[in-house]
Amino acid sequence: MSCIILGIETSCDDTGVAVVDAGDRVLANVLSSQTQLHADYGGVVPELASRGHSENIVHVFRGALESAGIGLDDVDLIAVTRGPGLIGCLLVGVMVAKGLSWSTGTPVVGVNHLKAHVWASVLDRTARLAAPALCLIVSGGHTELLLVEEPDSVEGTLVGGTRDDAAGEAFDKVARLLGLGYPGGPVIDRLAAEYRGDLIDFPRPMLSDSSFDFSFSGLKTAVAVYLEERDIPEGRLSDEEQKRVAASFQEAVVEVLATKAQKAIRETGVRTLIAAGGVAANRQLRRRLRDLAGEMGVEIIIPPPKYCTDNAAMVAAAGYRRFLHHGDDGMELDANPSLSIRPVQR
Ligand code: KG4
Ligand code: ZN
Repeated sequence: MSCIILGIETSCDDTGVAVVDAGDRVLANVLSSQTQLHADYGGVVPELASRGHSENIVHVFRGALESAGIGLDDVDLIAVTRGPGLIGCLLVGVMVAKGLSWSTGTPVVGVNHLKAHVWASVLDRTARLAAPALCLIVSGGHTELLLVEEPDSVEGTLVGGTRDDAAGEAFDKVARLLGLGYPGGPVIDRLAAEYRGDLIDFPRPMLSDSSFDFSFSGLKTAVAVYLEERDIPEGRLSDEEQKRVAASFQEAVVEVLATKAQKAIRETGVRTLIAAGGVAANRQLRRRLRDLAGEMGVEIIIPPPKYCTDNAAMVAAAGYRRFLHHGDDGMELDANPSLSIRPVQR
């Protein structure tokens, strides 16, 4: 049955509006990135980001309807990210969503951005989410291992998380140390792919720890110390050395993420691994997780890179499921910058 969902994403620095049918068929997925706006500052400036969303949202919205070939009257449900994220940014999306709902009478739901990352794995696949499954959520703000026990659900038990920096944050900080600009993940991914030589043995934080937790701030410090000891001023590495540091750092992150995922799969006995979030766009991580799943004989689901990084199609997919279980959020809907994945109570 058709159900046209309008998804809206404004939690950080990407303004996204998407049109998705029946929770998985993407009819339009329009994104306006603010990368240029923040590049000079080496990271997202909240005030500039929220202003950017206000300026962009109307043409991104129009673009999405046009590209899907629909009018506002055709929309059955509006889904918007309500958190976690930057409050000024979230409010732009939430206000637009509520305004549209108020004026058209279309139901509106608020979506948890982290759950939306996991729901990205159903887009363009028309497949149900298998369970039990282990989800590795790796983004700019989060690194979490979530055990989902019910099929078609993203409710679950958090089995591990980062104790300090998120994986994406580490990529961004190391890229800054190397003078590579923001966001760091895609540049490090590219430089590492071009490198063929030997690697620097950076630490693998908490690798042999018995928990499923992560810690990436020490790894970033190890890269800083490596550069300092060689007396290399920021951004002054030779091209080859830049690639070597990028590849060595990436290898350390990928090894830690893959090893912890492997341990958690073994311990929980799940047969499905899902990877989601911006860092899941990383080619080496994708390769490593696929190899690992192949060796362990488990199913692996990683959305295509365009659905790993922030987008509004995943918000529509998550909103559809929320609506089926909880109905309309109505005008009570509010932004919550510190929304988390609440562990299931036992
Ligand atoms: O999920 P996302 O788009 O936004 C958040 O919810 O945070 O993730 C953004 C993060 C950034 O830290 C970015 O550097 C990282 O994902 N990222 C990558 C790659 N593409 C984006 N990290 C490693 N390799 C990539 N190819
Ligand atoms: Zn995200």
